[in-house]
Amino acid sequence: MLKNKKILLGVTGGIAAYKAAYIVRELKRLGADVRVIMTHSATQFITPLTLSTLSQHEVIVSLWPKSTHESTDLGVKHVDLGLWADLTLILPASANTIAKLATGIADNALTSTALSIRCPLLIAPAMDLDMYRHPATQNNIGVLQDRGCIIIEPETGELASGLSGPGRLPELQPILEKIESALAGTQKDLSGVQVLVTAGPTYEKIDPVRFIGNRSSGKMGYAIAKAAVQRGADVTLISGPSSLETPQGVQRIDVESAAEMFGAVQREYERHQFIIMAAAVADFRPASSEKQKIKKTNDRDVPEIKLEQTDDILKFIGDHKDERTVIGFALETENELAHAREKLEKKKLDYIVINNPTREGSGFGSDTNEIQILDKNGKVKEYPLMSKFEAAHKILDCING
Ligand code: CTP
Repeated sequence: MLKNKKILLGVTGGIAAYKAAYIVRELKRLGADVRVIMTHSATQFITPLTLSTLSQHEVIVSLWPKSTHESTDLGVKHVDLGLWADLTLILPASANTIAKLATGIADNALTSTALSIRCPLLIAPAMDLDMYRHPATQNNIGVLQDRGCIIIEPETGELASGLSGPGRLPELQPILEKIESALAGTQKDLSGVQVLVTAGPTYEKIDPVRFIGNRSSGKMGYAIAKAAVQRGADVTLISGPSSLETPQGVQRIDVESAAEMFGAVQREYERHQFIIMAAAVADFRPASSEKQKIKKTNDRDVPEIKLEQTDDILKFIGDHKDERTVIGFALETENELAHAREKLEKKKLDYIVINNPTREGSGFGSDTNEIQILDKNGKVKEYPLMSKFEAAHKILDCING
């Protein structure tokens, strides 16, 4: 998603300014073109040379030529850069710069450029907790938010001052996700499309307190739902038990067991064009569940739990799909392609997303995934390790053509 994207990074004066180096390096690694503007205070914390070396471009600190007698500088840098950028990120954003942005003060290269940009503006405040909590700062952040700026909320933790509270710059990954989602928000290629996503594990009851479940976190399915809604789709998310927050704009239906998920999918699938089954549905459930908690007996007898198969929800959808596009997932630890191909054919899928939880960075609960997408014509697309959110966009790119 970041390939060839033009990212303008504004760095202001705060101890977290050194983290701008990591951001520049990562954005470059992901294929973005990065230009940096620093305030004078920022140069107290990190040198322009560092960011210029990493971005491979001149870093702008002042709008003025070094000496008006010795040189001129053609062009109107703040306007040029403002029009150039696909996205502007101010990281870290100090209380001072936030106040200037809120009131429209343009007294340096960064704040002047901020008035010229036409792209989404992301602001990552980072400062000491009292400065952050101060009503003036909170008010200014509110003004910027009302104006459509995206605020990357600081994390709570230990601060440079030794105090503990909100004000820390978040880690790289959530910042990259915000950048990706802001960029995706500008592309509405799924407008008017109905997308049904299943996510998470299912719990199959043994008795009122015990169940058979699996370690799925739901992160992949939730990332797909979030990415689809950002691209303009109407999204229904049928979720097994998960602690994840419902992405904004997504209609979520909570279920617990495979049978409940099957019921919800049967009720919902007809009105959706794309059906993406990312849930880790249990293949087996206890043939009967006890009404009361199973007690230990005095002797050493261990109760036996007889299992029966659950309904294969995806197979049902494959058999009833008509014009719908159906995407399944295959969790394979060996012979990935051969097993996935078999599943795709058996369940009459259009695409199958293959992941191997034994690969580094692709396990349950991780924020990243290394996927392959196989289509019904036998074509395979392989992707490197990436965030689940980025992988979600790859899946949507693929099915949307
Ligand atoms: N799936 C489903 N209903 C089930 C089991 C699985 O809809 N009862 C869906 C999953 O959501 C996933 C796909 O089927 O999209 C693959 O699930 P998986 O468990 O890997 O495949 P199985 O067909 O169950 O085969 P196996 O367990 O032998 O690998």
